[in-house]
Amino acid sequence: MSIHVLHENPEWYPPFAAAFDAEGVEHRQWLLGEGTLDLDAPPPPGVYWSRMSASSHTRGHAFAKDHTRAVLSWLEAAGRRVVNGRRVLELEMSKADQLTALRAAGFDVPRTIAVVGSGDLLGAAGKLPAPFVVKHNQGGKGLGVRRFDSVEELADATLEPPVDGITLVQEYVRPAHPHITRVEVVGGELVYAITADVARGGFELCPADACAATGPPLFALREDFDDHPIVARYLDFARRHGIGIAGFEFIETADGRLVTYDINTNTNYNPDVEAVAPRSGPRMIARFLAGEAGR
Ligand SMILES: Nc1ncnc2c1ncn2[C@@H]1O[C@H](COP(=O)(O)OP(=O)(O)O)[C@@H](O)[C@H]1O
Ligand SMILES: [Mg+2]
Repeated sequence: MSIHVLHENPEWYPPFAAAFDAEGVEHRQWLLGEGTLDLDAPPPPGVYWSRMSASSHTRGHAFAKDHTRAVLSWLEAAGRRVVNGRRVLELEMSKADQLTALRAAGFDVPRTIAVVGSGDLLGAAGKLPAPFVVKHNQGGKGLGVRRFDSVEELADATLEPPVDGITLVQEYVRPAHPHITRVEVVGGELVYAITADVARGGFELCPADACAATGPPLFALREDFDDHPIVARYLDFARRHGIGIAGFEFIETADGRLVTYDINTNTNYNPDVEAVAPRSGPRMIARFLAGEAGR
């Protein structure tokens, strides 16, 4: 039984291919973005894993997201097992969607206003205390994420247009320590938590090898995290939303808040962290998907 990996960036595949091979699992990539789809044909047997990325348009794959929407609907209608399926794709594609779901589940999230099209961005920013953050609703890898110290500063700025027409204005969450934490979960289990250095890393925090910065590593394993109470809450959220594989990002503030602000359902694991961690993200994924295929 084969594992079909749906995405659009073959550069991200080697660590997963190596993990599937090491586990003895048959696997193939399905690169989305162009092609044909015969809606009357039955999908090939196997388990499907979608890791479509919200930033795929930045790699010249403008149609990859809508292609994935069509393919996942087709797979699910045919009864195929899809990990990170049709609903999860919409979570990946919209931070407004993520924050709404997190908030409804009782998580502390940053105060956020979504501004659509030529809506009143400055007016929205004026409702938040300064500094504040502006970001794209559909992004990833820090796309369009900028911090402003005043509405005037925002008024003078030239912003990249968001691909879905939605810009978020968001409370700036001041970290108590100069890092954010990302909690990786696979198949109902914690992989590990990593920290990403915000002092040097700024807002562009893509953990893939392909995005690695020069100099000392920006990413580190966060030790002694397994018993942190947020882990069980993220696992419960993932289970309720049918999320098989994800990284949850949070910031801890000086006044004791733990603020969750991003869910990544197309995680790339950092090689420096993988080298020292007690568990491996790609290996856990390979085992999880093999288990799903064996059902
Ligand atoms: N509201 C915020 N307050 C403080 N820092 C933020 C905030 N939002 C984002 N950041 C910083 O910018 C980075 C990228 O933002 P994020 O929302 O995770 O977008 P992406 O999906 O592009 O990763 C975060 O990891 C964090 O360091
Ligand atoms: Mg992020």
